[in-house]
Amino acid sequence: MNKIIECQNLGYTYDNGIKTPVLSALNLEINSAESLAIIGQSGCGKSTLLNLLGGIDKPTTGKVIINNSSLSQLSEEEITNLRAQHLGFVYQFHHLLKNFSALYNVAMPLLIRGDNTQIALKKSNKLLSDIGLQNRLNHRPAELSGGQRQRVAIARALINNPNCLLADEPTGNLDARNAQEILGLIMEFNQQKKTALILVTHDIKIAKKVDRFLTLKNGILV
Ligand SMILES: Nc1ncnc2c1ncn2[C@@H]1O[C@H](COP(=O)(O)OP(=O)(O)OP(=O)(O)O)[C@@H](O)[C@H]1O
Ligand SMILES: [Mg+2]
Repeated sequence: MNKIIECQNLGYTYDNGIKTPVLSALNLEINSAESLAIIGQSGCGKSTLLNLLGGIDKPTTGKVIINNSSLSQLSEEEITNLRAQHLGFVYQFHHLLKNFSALYNVAMPLLIRGDNTQIALKKSNKLLSDIGLQNRLNHRPAELSGGQRQRVAIARALINNPNCLLADEPTGNLDARNAQEILGLIMEFNQQKKTALILVTHDIKIAKKVDRFLTLKNGILV
């Protein structure tokens, strides 16, 4: 099995004058095509962990290894490239660009890395159509429903065919039916495209649908 993301003895303490220890000596491995859910109470550090695994924040102690590269040995630019190449992110709050259409929001990761505009838009169009948004291509985030926005955010995370999707409560703000649909969509990518999945959720029912689930408690995964 191919390791996509690994962390060793990962620790994180926020320091804004007051020190808030969140993670301590946490170990985790995610292999290609695997699906993992992380559950835990609000404030236990789930979003913090995803940000470290994705190289968005730097650990206080320990290390994160993506595709056999240890992030601590890479420059910011190299980390950005590694992320663009291997990872897709769905944030807890969708973070779509409000002045851009769904089509451009999804194409953005490709445009940023310098892909041809026409090809990027064509890929974006195809992916949005695949997930049922062919009639909303030119809508901006404010003109979409919550579930539709979350679909756009998922399409944006998947447009670069990542090896691993990191999803932070992607269904947290949705009703049960929409949550089910969005989850189905994510699982479909996991199964068909073998995209590994790390899914943060409050919902034990969701956590039980994936290969394995871990609970984050007192700074470690159990
Ligand atoms: N910038 C910050 N400075 C100081 N403390 C922070 C900061 N961001 C988060 N924290 C604290 O770190 C802890 C972990 O936060 P985190 O956002 O990772 O929790 P979470 O498990 O994702 O919670 P939720 O389920 O509510 O999204 C929280 O107790 C929070 O108060
Ligand atoms: Mg969170």
